Amino acid sequence: MNDLEYHQIDQLIEAVLASSKYRSIDRDFVRYIGMRELARRQNLKESIKATKNKLHQVGGAYQDSTPRYAVWLDKLRQAAQAGDREHVPDVCKWVMGHHSSTRERLPLLEQFYSTILADLPPINSIIDIACGLHPLAIPWMPLSEHAHYYAYDIYQDMMDFLNECVALLHVQGYGKACNVLQDCPTQRVDVAFMLKVIPCLEQVDKSAGLRLLETINADHLVVSFPAYSLGGRKKGMVANYEARFYELVANKPWSIQRFAFPGELVFLLSKS
Ligand SMILES: C[S@@+](CC[C@H](N)C(=O)[O-])C[C@H]1O[C@@H](n2cnc3c(N)ncnc32)[C@H](O)[C@@H]1O
Repeated sequence: MNDLEYHQIDQLIEAVLASSKYRSIDRDFVRYIGMRELARRQNLKESIKATKNKLHQVGGAYQDSTPRYAVWLDKLRQAAQAGDREHVPDVCKWVMGHHSSTRERLPLLEQFYSTILADLPPINSIIDIACGLHPLAIPWMPLSEHAHYYAYDIYQDMMDFLNECVALLHVQGYGKACNVLQDCPTQRVDVAFMLKVIPCLEQVDKSAGLRLLETINADHLVVSFPAYSLGGRKKGMVANYEARFYELVANKPWSIQRFAFPGELVFLLSKS
């Protein structure tokens, strides 16, 4: 980083975080994207615009409207306090409906985890990489009684919300804001979810998919790809993503199972 970029990066970060749409994004992630854009353009105004565009592309585009975490949490608390076993999953589904990527999985919830995780030993620990609102699907997951769930995404307000949710859903663990491109979680777990994240991360760093698959210290990784683009068109995406996945795992001593759901192509990658 040259002197000019060093001086400008703080201005860029402040300008981006001043916008209500981006203010909850992890500061280190804004710095990471901003530094790359400044190095390319050497022009502060254009770099601020390009940084916002990239942040929209990898995060903001999945949020249909401003998230109402306080309202959602209230509803979840009320359902949990009422002790009504049906009501908690209903509220979870309603909340997940506010993240366009997580929402696409709602029609699949009943069979998704019971199919993919069916043959695994009891699951005591999970990490969820670039999770969106996916931890709200915990009621559908076959977890053991004292399971730990660790969730990561770039939004601090989303992680504050998920921190409260995991407790209400009777699992231990936390949500933590982080840029998994720079700070990939490495704790040992039974299962890692990487749901629809490789295409998103590879828009920023082409080597991210392979690096995460290698670095994540899980016995089993559930890796998926969307069958539709955000605009809803199919465009031969499934075949492309499938080819990309097999390219990433070529020559690795990992066993792979494939599951094709409507809307999502899933691989269970087992390292042990
Ligand atoms: C396609 S969505 C997938 C959400 C979730 N995994 C699911 O399938 O329900 C991609 C998610 O990645 C998050 N994200 C993007 N870049 C990230 C990064 N570098 N570190 C952590 N999370 C990131 C976005 O905020 C977004 O929630």
